[in-house]
Amino acid sequence: MRVLVTGAAGFIGSHLVDRLLAEGHEVAGVDDLSTGRNTRDDIDIWEMDVADPALGGRVAGWAPEVVFHLAAQVSVRVSVGDPLRDAEINVVGTANVLEAARAAGSRKVVFTSSCAVYGVPDALPVPPGARLRPASPYAASKVAGEVYAQMYRALHGLDFTTLTLANVYGPRQTPEGEAGVISIFTDALLAGRPTRVFGDGKQTRDYVYVADVVDAFLRSAGDQGGGRRFNVGTGLQTTDRDLHTLVAIAAEAPDEPEFAPPRLGDLPAMSVDAEPTREALGWAPRVGLPEGLTATVAWARSQDI
Ligand SMILES: NC(=O)c1ccc[n+]([C@@H]2O[C@H](COP(=O)([O-])OP(=O)(O)OC[C@H]3O[C@@H](n4cnc5c(N)ncnc54)[C@H](O)[C@@H]3O)[C@@H](O)[C@H]2O)c1
Repeated sequence: MRVLVTGAAGFIGSHLVDRLLAEGHEVAGVDDLSTGRNTRDDIDIWEMDVADPALGGRVAGWAPEVVFHLAAQVSVRVSVGDPLRDAEINVVGTANVLEAARAAGSRKVVFTSSCAVYGVPDALPVPPGARLRPASPYAASKVAGEVYAQMYRALHGLDFTTLTLANVYGPRQTPEGEAGVISIFTDALLAGRPTRVFGDGKQTRDYVYVADVVDAFLRSAGDQGGGRRFNVGTGLQTTDRDLHTLVAIAAEAPDEPEFAPPRLGDLPAMSVDAEPTREALGWAPRVGLPEGLTATVAWARSQDI
């Protein structure tokens, strides 16, 4: 299959590219390299903004069957500070990618959303049909992208599947992303620097390993799951305090975080219900947090050499 991956040099996008190539697919990428650093010599990664009007011509020339759209402004905090730039990349960029895919005759776009779209949910784990309550420009831009994808399917017959990702972690992750705390704890603990937990340490998140997330993308490329949104997470909540313990064990470092006042706007708890994802796509997470953290810490160690 011939595919296009936007955000191909990013954390998740680069793992997706690795897996697609390993499975024999023809892959091209788009990335403006603003945060992504993971390029490789054996595929063409077009260095351009996803909102660039010239994207359509490049996509038409490649004519991908499936477009995996991951390129985004990924920081909630940056989105609050500069909501227009966030919308330019995440809303206009997504409209540009959908229009390019339509014009190129692509069969499907797999859109990357975030559990941030649920805001403070009524119940946990959040089912994929839960009411969306975006609490940041980033989350609002992801909702807009989802709606654009639905509209393109209704208007033009361009199929889509939306993957609503929980907090993704693993090798190559950066401190800016939604599971950035793992990267921050890991780097500090390996360097012997102090670590900080905000609030009482009881805030929770649903951490899902990047290889499992990539598996969900692959399973979304076919016809199954067309026109639907799926949660990609474990359904488990891990507190910040417990996460610190687990990273400290993996890093063989002392488990002695400092506590700092809570940060304004941080959501108290999150986990997502991925049972419908299992039913429709046959997807389930395989890598538990201790195992995934061991791999993540090993990768971080290898970066210091
Ligand atoms: N990491 C997580 O926990 C998480 C959780 C939920 C959703 N997501 C979503 O997954 C996707 C990938 O995120 P990631 O964690 O790999 O982050 P990342 O920052 O590593 O990847 C994003 C990539 O997009 C590129 N990019 C940014 N702006 C661009 C633009 N204007 N034009 C072209 N390329 C641009 C960056 O250079 C980077 O390579 C994003 O859509 C993000 O919102 C991530």
